[in-house]
Amino acid sequence: MFKKVKLTDSLYYVGVNDRNKVLFENMWPLPYGISYNSYLIVDEETALIDTVDTCYSEEFLQKIETALEGRSLDYLIINHMEPDHSGSLKDILRVYPDVTLVGNGKTFDMTYGFYGIKDHTLTVKDGDNLSLGRRNLHFYLTPMVHWPETMMTYDATDLTLFAGDAFGCFRALNGGILDKDLDTSLYYPEMIRYYANIVGKYGSPVQKALKKLASLEIKTICSTHGPVWQKEIGKVVSIYDKLSKYEAEDGVVIIYGSMYGNTAKMAEAIATELSACGIKHIAVHNVTNSHSSYILEDIFRYKGVIIGSPTYNTALYPEVDSILKKIENREIKNRYFGYFGSFSWANGASKQFALFSERIKWEVIGTPIENKMGMNSDSYEACESLAKAMAEKLLNSK
Ligand code: FEO
Repeated sequence: MFKKVKLTDSLYYVGVNDRNKVLFENMWPLPYGISYNSYLIVDEETALIDTVDTCYSEEFLQKIETALEGRSLDYLIINHMEPDHSGSLKDILRVYPDVTLVGNGKTFDMTYGFYGIKDHTLTVKDGDNLSLGRRNLHFYLTPMVHWPETMMTYDATDLTLFAGDAFGCFRALNGGILDKDLDTSLYYPEMIRYYANIVGKYGSPVQKALKKLASLEIKTICSTHGPVWQKEIGKVVSIYDKLSKYEAEDGVVIIYGSMYGNTAKMAEAIATELSACGIKHIAVHNVTNSHSSYILEDIFRYKGVIIGSPTYNTALYPEVDSILKKIENREIKNRYFGYFGSFSWANGASKQFALFSERIKWEVIGTPIENKMGMNSDSYEACESLAKAMAEKLLNSK
């Protein structure tokens, strides 16, 4: 019923696409779906790497059965316990009761906590090996990429890295699995959005993992989401390296909330002047219409961030406040920051922006703007000045 999908000699793809879920983690939109990738190595012994979301267990089990061709499953290697990858654990144990679960010191506390599973386990440490026959697997602990138990598995024979969430992206796989068989240009924006939303807080652990793996020769990267990378490994690793160092392109993301259009006019004035000053990459988000998922993606992408808010009940417009909290939660570093806003009788937004910039340690560029009621010529000029200051900063720091 399922075609066997062979990736390399004795390595099979047994993952699934999810085009039903609307919000990943019940927060992040999935307009193009997502894949939950799982891989099966068939050697003298057989090993499955991770499982899939529980909603797809039946399809998953059928794919494994097809690839195994009557053989037993000897090992299930658990690189990551988040339920999008561990959701079918109990089903695997039901069908393959003799399978040995391979994880590290933190894994089995989670198998027990989530699923009541504590038997048939093999605990590995950083650098441990497991021979499957011809293939020798090495385990590397990579905590907080994306949970504390996260590890990666390296097949030293076929030079394949099973990387967990690292190098993953939103967007289901449309037929092809390997990068050479896909239009990968569609996946890169979703890789940045995935990183910004899911892994973004963990830049330092990602850097540690990249350094730990730097000496390995890698021909194939098998992530838990998105394409299997072979041809474009260099590009993918470079994207992760930059994102985890919080490096960004010369561009500006303007984010604003507006109740009656006055703060919106300021955002437009700033965007127009940024463009006049030679800034090509400008993203503008009305927080009411843009999902925070896409705003965070652009904050990871661009070096300049300008945020505007009306004063609402003496504080920030609530949706702007929510974005600031998401930025702080991810501890995004090294951005140039400008801010502006409007108020009718009492200005509370500016003070909150100032406190935010101190907490996050972003460099404040230009003069903050506090526009009283409707846009006037003074506030228009102030918007132009803020945009000029940001453009100069970006263009001079090239
Ligand atoms: Fe795809 Fe952290 O799970």
